[in-house]
Amino acid sequence: MGLITFFSPAVTLFCGLITLWVVKTITSYAKLRQFEGPRWTGISNWPHSLALLRHNCHEWYAEVNNKYGPIARVAPRVLITSDPEVWMHVNNKPGYKRSDWYYTAARIEHRKDNVFTQTDNAKHDRRRKQMAPGENLQLEGAIDERVQDFLDLIRAKYVSSDNDTVPMDLAKKVQYFTLDVISSVGLGSNFGMLESDRDVDNYLSSLEEGLSIGNTALAMGFSWITQAPFIGKYVAASPKDKNGFGKMMTACFQIVDGRAASKTDQRSDMLASFIRHGLSGDELRSEALEQILAGSDTTAGAIRGSLLHIMTNPRVYHKLQREIDDSVSNGLVPSEGIITTGQTKQLPYLQAVIREALRVWPPVANIFSRDVPPGGDTVIVDGESVFLPDGACIGYSAYSMHHSEKIYGKDAKVFRPERWFESDSTKLAGMVRTNELIFGYGKYRCLGKTVADIEIGKLIFELFRNFDLSLINPTRPWDVKNYLGLFAISDMWIQVIERNP
Ligand code: HEM
Repeated sequence: MGLITFFSPAVTLFCGLITLWVVKTITSYAKLRQFEGPRWTGISNWPHSLALLRHNCHEWYAEVNNKYGPIARVAPRVLITSDPEVWMHVNNKPGYKRSDWYYTAARIEHRKDNVFTQTDNAKHDRRRKQMAPGENLQLEGAIDERVQDFLDLIRAKYVSSDNDTVPMDLAKKVQYFTLDVISSVGLGSNFGMLESDRDVDNYLSSLEEGLSIGNTALAMGFSWITQAPFIGKYVAASPKDKNGFGKMMTACFQIVDGRAASKTDQRSDMLASFIRHGLSGDELRSEALEQILAGSDTTAGAIRGSLLHIMTNPRVYHKLQREIDDSVSNGLVPSEGIITTGQTKQLPYLQAVIREALRVWPPVANIFSRDVPPGGDTVIVDGESVFLPDGACIGYSAYSMHHSEKIYGKDAKVFRPERWFESDSTKLAGMVRTNELIFGYGKYRCLGKTVADIEIGKLIFELFRNFDLSLINPTRPWDVKNYLGLFAISDMWIQVIERNP
């Protein structure tokens, strides 16, 4: 009797918690019961967590949509869609907002948002206006210098010959390139990775480490720790750290503070534009840092994916190189210097190759979850109305959407740039409309697309104008891990041959 009296408050509390959990689980299961998904996703986050931990969540989302339809369930209150019209609607309609559970996990600093992690619509709109691409007279020139650095590095250290192979890890060099570009155009100060051919102050490895930790934290449900009031600041990256990411923060903040303090700086670049639009102090620092993150892995993934697909498709490789050579021999592109962006746009096959590479291998495959507006919303899927209840979230299934046979035809999974010369204008318009979603939509659309377009076009042209590239290990071309929807790629060993030695 005494024992029962002793235990009864604890037992009552335990039973109460279990009852609460059961009621909550049943309610959330019932709310989205009309949407199908893999086993257990209606009552548990674990299937989603395991996919995140396996580092191939994009493939899992694609399998889910391909099996259970264009809107499917991946967690008790999370849906994903492969339907481009639904995704555009969700991004366009007032009332939807970015979901805290995903975007807070993507924060860099302790309890500080940047334009990408901001989930409050009004605050996001205000910030975005301050960051809208301003006049940036130095953009193209700065990227040209980095492309030249890349070519110089290859010539200095990595040219192979018939008799000698000098392996080059393309994955690493491409990331040196994108980090050098984004530090040059975003901060007005080149990190100098290509020049020194090394990961300066371990920025690159710490970026990957940060993404990997963020991914595990999201999967295990402890992202909140870095944002918790007292302990968070000891766990989140900080400029006080002596190495890696914290050191990158310090370097970035010092450059930003210096630029903000200098009244005589005449530069017309991204940072100057942010300052002109009223960003200052912590806000300016956070946005400058965010550019480095948003602009490096993303574009590096796009360039690596494009190069891999070109290298492994001889037909495309030769056709592209013929277009490049012809453009030089017929005078469209000068034989000296780096191709201009205007000239890259006049090369239809190059443009088709890039569009197709980003479609077959979308380099940014985050779920980008949105909360459904209060009261719910109705979307149209294949002509039928589908109700999304209040309290649910809906995200983006990149690999299913961009490999859709309905939109791209039976060979949707195949890398075939010629599909972009489709003669049926209605079909082509639908394909282009869907393909544009690779850079997001509406008020969330990528703010760095122009920078990425310039980088990708120039680098691919110049690499194949000057060199021949081939994989050293075609059976294992690279090692790839999906962290939070971005791809950490390593061990992409290639052989480079000078075309006109
Ligand atoms: C191929 C390369 C890139 C791809 C595929 C890409 C893709 C995207 C996507 C899909 C979004 C939408 C996020 C959302 O809906 O929440 C986005 C946002 C953003 N991107 Fe990019 N991006 C690329 C390169 C860049 C570069 C080079 C920069 C910087 C110069 C950049 C800066 C940003 C920023 C600041 C946002 C946040 C916009 C906002 O919240 O309003 N991106 N990007």
